[in-house]
Amino acid sequence: RSGNGDSRGALVVLEGLDRCGKSTQSGRLLTYLKGLGHSTELWRFPDRTTSVGQMISSYLSSQSQLDDHTVHLLFSANRWEKRSLMERKLKSGTTLIVDRYSYSGVAFSSAKGLDIDWCKAPEIGLLAPDMVVYLNIPPEKAAERGGYGDERYEKLEFQRKVSHSYQVLHDASWKMIDACQPIEDIEKQLQEMVSDCVRICQKGKPLSFLWS
Ligand code: TMP
Ligand code: MG
Repeated sequence: RSGNGDSRGALVVLEGLDRCGKSTQSGRLLTYLKGLGHSTELWRFPDRTTSVGQMISSYLSSQSQLDDHTVHLLFSANRWEKRSLMERKLKSGTTLIVDRYSYSGVAFSSAKGLDIDWCKAPEIGLLAPDMVVYLNIPPEKAAERGGYGDERYEKLEFQRKVSHSYQVLHDASWKMIDACQPIEDIEKQLQEMVSDCVRICQKGKPLSFLWS
C-alpha cells in the first residue's frame, strides 16, 4: 500500500504543551498505521541528532544561553534541514507522524514575547501538514503528570503562556482531542482521524506549503 508511484504519504503533526501525551500517542499511532500495512515513520522536532539539533538541545538543558531570536531561527533551521528528506519520504508513499512542528516554533517563541508574524516568517515554504492534532490539556493538569523534567520551558507559568499562544495560532482545520481522557480513548480518536487523512492523501491530495 505504499511506494506505488502516485499515492503519497500523509504529513500528520501532533502539537500540545509539554507532558500532554504527544510522545505516547505518536508511538501508538505508529504501531497502528504500520499494523495496517502503511509505510510510516515517527519524526520529532527538535531533531536533536543534527548539529543544529545539538545546539538546541544544549540550550534547552541550560548548558548554553542564546538570544530568543537566535534560538527561534535554530528551531526553524532544524526543520529546514529535514525538508527535502521529508518531501522525498512523502512522495514515495511514507506517512510521517511528526511530534511537534512549526506551530511549536511559533507558540513557544511568541510566548516569550516575540512578534507572531516575525516568528512565522522563517517557516514559510516548509511542507504544510495534512492534519494537525492538538492534544488539549490545561497547563495545571500537565504539570501534575509525573512532574516536568528540568528542561528550560517546563515551568507552569511559561506553559500557561504557551497555551495562550496555541489558542491564538490554531485554526478551524485543527483536530482537537481532550488530552485528559484515558490513553486508550485518545488513541482510538486519533486512529479514526488519521485513517481518513491517510486515505485522502493516497487518493492524490497535493502537497501544500506553510502557511496555508
Ligand atoms: P520536546 O520536549 O518535544 O523534545 O521539545 C523540547 C522543547 O522545545 C519543548 O519545550 C518545546 C520546544 N520547542 C520550541 O520552543 N520550538 C520549536 O520549534 C520546537 C519544535 C520545540
Ligand atoms: Mg520535553
